[in-house]
Amino acid sequence: MKKLVVLSGAGMSQESGIRTFRDMGGLWEEYDVMEVATPEAWQRNPELVMRFYNDRRKQLYGCLPNAGHIGLFELEKDFDVEIITQNVDDLHERAGSSKVLHLHGELKKVRSQKDPSLIYELDGWELKFGDKCEKGSQLRPHIVWFGEAVPAMDEAVSIAEKADIFVVIGTSLDVYPAAGLLYYTQPDIPIFVIDPHEPPVSGKNVIFIEEKAGRGVEILKEKLKEL
Ligand code: OAD
Repeated sequence: MKKLVVLSGAGMSQESGIRTFRDMGGLWEEYDVMEVATPEAWQRNPELVMRFYNDRRKQLYGCLPNAGHIGLFELEKDFDVEIITQNVDDLHERAGSSKVLHLHGELKKVRSQKDPSLIYELDGWELKFGDKCEKGSQLRPHIVWFGEAVPAMDEAVSIAEKADIFVVIGTSLDVYPAAGLLYYTQPDIPIFVIDPHEPPVSGKNVIFIEEKAGRGVEILKEKLKEL
């Protein structure tokens, strides 16, 4: 079976009702990223950071996977599909995808402020001050903030290197190191890009599908039959 590797971003979940970051009306228009998504913000104004992620988590409970997520799961019948996602939602997993690597953390998980190896599933949407790990330190959102290392990156690189087909869905490719994964793919493998606005990817092996994720994955399935 050919290995089909997907790099997904916020646009993947847009049709599920989750806002992207950099589009018009995106989250970073309403919030200053430095005020909610950095370790400094957590030190300076933990209440705001806590509220920001609690709101995102609460909203996620009301969202469902869309046709794009489900289409990627269905591709597992014919391909060895591995998904590398920048998204912190769990919509790929809820659609049934079996191999999902989260580069930027997971909204439904929290971790110890002092010992990052202590990671827990949060029961419900609300993380509170006073919620502590077994060693007694405050729990924080299990999110990779700007300025923090991306612990899953090495694994993501090794997945990208083995791809026979690479698919980019719904990411502006603005944020590194995630955006750099494309450079680790083998030369000349087909690279499909699904996005209503063309992100900065070029090359003779790039096939651009100018659509939202739901319809885009449907078209991708047709194009894969022609390979
Ligand atoms: P962006 O908001 O930067 O980019 C979203 C992309 O999705 C854009 O290229 C849009 O054109 C596209 N898009 C919008 N609606 C779509 C749809 N229905 N179907 C397909 N594509 C659609 O989001 P990311 O690239 O994911 O990090 O952002 C990367 C990282 O920056 C995020 O993981 C987050 C953010 O700050 C952290 O919070 C650490």
